[in-house]
Amino acid sequence: MQGLVDQIQTAVTFIQQSWTGPAKVGMILGTGLGGLTEQIEIQAAIPYGEIPHFPISTAPSHAGRLVCGTLRGVPIVAMEGRFHYYEGYSLQQVTFPVRVMKALGADTLLVTNAAGGINPQLDLADVVVIEDHINLMPDNPLRGVNEDRLGPRWPDLCEPYSHKLIELARAAALELGIHLPKGVFVAVPGPNLETRAEYRMLKAFGADVVGMSTVPEVLVAIHSSMQVLGFSVVTDLCLPDHLEPVDIQKILANAAIGGQKLAKLIPRVIEQLA
Ligand code: HPA
Repeated sequence: MQGLVDQIQTAVTFIQQSWTGPAKVGMILGTGLGGLTEQIEIQAAIPYGEIPHFPISTAPSHAGRLVCGTLRGVPIVAMEGRFHYYEGYSLQQVTFPVRVMKALGADTLLVTNAAGGINPQLDLADVVVIEDHINLMPDNPLRGVNEDRLGPRWPDLCEPYSHKLIELARAAALELGIHLPKGVFVAVPGPNLETRAEYRMLKAFGADVVGMSTVPEVLVAIHSSMQVLGFSVVTDLCLPDHLEPVDIQKILANAAIGGQKLAKLIPRVIEQLA
């Protein structure tokens, strides 16, 4: 089997047959949040299944293609749909596309997700800019022999989410009239939602939003010395004393409303990264 560096190079060589980039920004669009790709001037859209060493997405509402082009003139490579740990992939597989984005030239990762709102001040369809995270996934994509050509053995996490980019996003949100609180994201493995007792625990831990993704990709982005900006859309409220059964249709409806806010906000942020 090819080593990781060779696998990345094989995928990059394949993508460069239809799009040479170089990319400036890599973007991962979460559940129900793929609408942003409508604003991309698409130069290539490659189904994941065609890209060497990419896993194949199995989640509903994930289109599963790599969209390459420009957004407000900035070259970007965007994942329309992501891979989740709960689908059975290893975290190395989940994060492989981030390695490829970096190798295509991206120095910034912009990541979005659908999340449960733990902080009682949050409302449905609110967008939260992620200021920090707590990792409760039972594995780590960087576990194993470190590939020094890709990054350091012990990546530092004192500022995983760029303060500069958070401030840029907050200023853009203010201009656009979008409420954009900062919050701590906690990653759980899924696929089940949490119990009332678990939501109480996550709140006590200091989390504001909870989801089943994002942290593995951010860890690999940091390992690759990319700067990161992350957004969660609140799709359900995790209030232990008023918990309602989840309804995937309601989750997708809230993702769509939050996604419309992101579709205004993200281009305003990206145009300032040129
Ligand atoms: N918990 C975990 N992941 C989620 C949730 C939740 O409540 N909502 C959306 N993704």
